[in-house]
Amino acid sequence: MLAELDSIKSDALIVIEAINDDSGLEEARVGFLGKKGRLTAASAGMRDVPKDQKKDVGQKLNEVRTAITAALDEKGAALTATRDTAAFASIDATLPSRSLPQGGLHPLTHVLNEAVSILRRMGFALAEGPEIETEWHCFDALNTPEDHPARNESDTFYFENGKLLRTHTSSVQIRTMEKEVPPVRIIAPGSAFRRDEIDATHLSAFHQLEGLYVDKKVTLADLKGTLEYFFRELFGSKTEVRFRPHFFPFTEPSFEVDLKLHATGKAAKWIEIAGCGIVDPAVFSEVSGKRGDLAYDPEDISGFAFGMGLDRLAMIMYGIPDLRLLIENDVRFLGQFTK
Ligand code: PHE
Repeated sequence: MLAELDSIKSDALIVIEAINDDSGLEEARVGFLGKKGRLTAASAGMRDVPKDQKKDVGQKLNEVRTAITAALDEKGAALTATRDTAAFASIDATLPSRSLPQGGLHPLTHVLNEAVSILRRMGFALAEGPEIETEWHCFDALNTPEDHPARNESDTFYFENGKLLRTHTSSVQIRTMEKEVPPVRIIAPGSAFRRDEIDATHLSAFHQLEGLYVDKKVTLADLKGTLEYFFRELFGSKTEVRFRPHFFPFTEPSFEVDLKLHATGKAAKWIEIAGCGIVDPAVFSEVSGKRGDLAYDPEDISGFAFGMGLDRLAMIMYGIPDLRLLIENDVRFLGQFTK
């Protein structure tokens, strides 16, 4: 029996050594270790081994099984390694990798980041407010009378519950003053919505950047200096800034701001870019009524506010002829702005 086990072992090792594919490996496993395999058949002979030899034969049986199993495993690993080497043989791992298309920031985001960073350097902090507003925050608190055309159904998107899509980011002025006491120096970039007919220079959803500064003795000179500095930082030091008297319900006096750019390579002409003014005392009175304190006593403090269209800033900065390009998400257009 011992001799038979030894010969099974040496046969197995020779057979396994010669194997060169997976099916050969499986055939050998079944042939030696399977239910009808040679080793299995031999171990059935244990029954007839005299008692005093059982221990030795049993040990041999185990030794042979272990040796065959190890040889099969080793061969299996060798076959896998050979296959892997063959698979990688045609790949040059030293080649540089293929570059993947990379995304970039939207032109509006570029302009926004630039504008915000200039204003933050000047000490303005970012503020936020909701796009779905109450009439009070969007109009009443901003001294806008019931019959003002902007409040018309044909100009503003109203919800059935009386709320509306904010028509400007000026509502964030009010929300900030409700929460914080002067000095207040904030900017609020965000979306605004109007029922405008959509064309090259109008969208019904657009972007504004609002600014508010409230403190003791804030004057028109502060407002002018702030906006002139801002636009020159943004568009170059030769940029001319013009303040044209205008009317807004929430500022008095009020102005529209025009820019004349000298670095675009085109003939310079005046472009309207922002609204601004000295905060109307009536706005402070509304806020004081809501707060129930004297933090915004119009006798004690003053302020300026401004609001500008970010989409229009992007048009100027990049020479974009049609606002609709900004919302169409055409990668042929947007791809030009990736850096
Ligand atoms: N809210 C005005 C608009 O949307 C802009 C503005 C803001 C004007 C602040 C004056 C002061 O047109």
